[in-house]
Amino acid sequence: MKVDGRHYRSIWRDQERDRVRIIDQRWLPHEFRIAELDSLDAFATAIRDMWVRGAPLIGATAAYGIAVHMTSDARDASLEEAGKVLFETRPTAVNLRWAIDRCARILEPLPERERAGAAMRLADEIADEDIEINRRIGVHGLEIIRQIARTRPDGEPVRVLTHCNAGWIATVDWGTATSPMYQAHDAGIPVHVWVDETRPRNQGALTSWELGSHGISHSYIVDNAGGHLMQRGLVDLVVTGTDRTTADGDVCNKIGTYLKALAAHDNGVPFYVALPSPTIDWTVRDGVQEIPIEERDGSEATHVMGLSADGSLGQVQVSPKGAESANPAFDVTPGRLVSGLITERGVCEASRTGLARLFPEFDAPSRAAVRDG
Ligand code: MRU
Repeated sequence: MKVDGRHYRSIWRDQERDRVRIIDQRWLPHEFRIAELDSLDAFATAIRDMWVRGAPLIGATAAYGIAVHMTSDARDASLEEAGKVLFETRPTAVNLRWAIDRCARILEPLPERERAGAAMRLADEIADEDIEINRRIGVHGLEIIRQIARTRPDGEPVRVLTHCNAGWIATVDWGTATSPMYQAHDAGIPVHVWVDETRPRNQGALTSWELGSHGISHSYIVDNAGGHLMQRGLVDLVVTGTDRTTADGDVCNKIGTYLKALAAHDNGVPFYVALPSPTIDWTVRDGVQEIPIEERDGSEATHVMGLSADGSLGQVQVSPKGAESANPAFDVTPGRLVSGLITERGVCEASRTGLARLFPEFDAPSRAAVRDG
């Protein structure tokens, strides 16, 4: 998408120098900075410390990390080390494992001298595929928005609530949850987005920055406002992203998503999840029991970063000094609370049969059965 009129991806390769660049998200929405990643350590730090974030972008970044590491050392041990170091950065988004496994599967059989070139091409392919997947999610999600638009009074926007940032900077481009919003806006369907702030990391500020840059009407709201807005009939649908969805349709996403799903269920508001297929974990069924939930440093909850009146960026403490904090970063919404999964192949029920219908080649029931012996 565009920043100040210029098209960017969230991660890209400088073709001339074979260097990988990212939008460094630590500074957004206040400053737009670009960083260059040139070593395995730099890639691992960028994922762990959230210079890049969002499940699809984490996967693409890992693929580029392996590729850059292969340019300095392409031995078997080095390939294995790259996978291990990157895998340990963040536990929840399954796209990380998906990308690492895909790289290993393709690079391992190759002779060492071919690995660096093949790894770069593969990382580019993963990035390009992500863009196309998200574009298609937008096409299917647009139909949902279009249908709701027909029920709205003339000229009145479709009011969509979203949580966290499942936008273009959480992917390589387009975003997952935002792709239908961008496509609806471009098709002339008015939308208004309720943007959850998403404490503690305030990814809603990123969503607000993105939507604002694209001219999409939105309101930045505190996380606790969603239930109230739904009770008042001010939300037509909820669309979120996901970091890992199980073969049975349980959706793991940013902490607070579950509460939004409960409120949507209670108020009869459709709750959709934008789901690219690399985010499906076909090896697990019960999201609550089986998905590892990242616990991040408590300082993310006790402190916030922001812009002060004099224009300087800084951190302030919001809790009492020394207060203990717990900071689980994700939660799981059972499939029964999800109205539908918007995938690149269409919309399906959040269930094993729903997913298996769209992705028969993964044969979800029998894979899960194999795992269970
Ligand atoms: O901790 P983050 O910012 O990486 O979490 C991001 C989310 O939870 C997103 O909603 C999810 O990855 C979907 S991104 C298209």
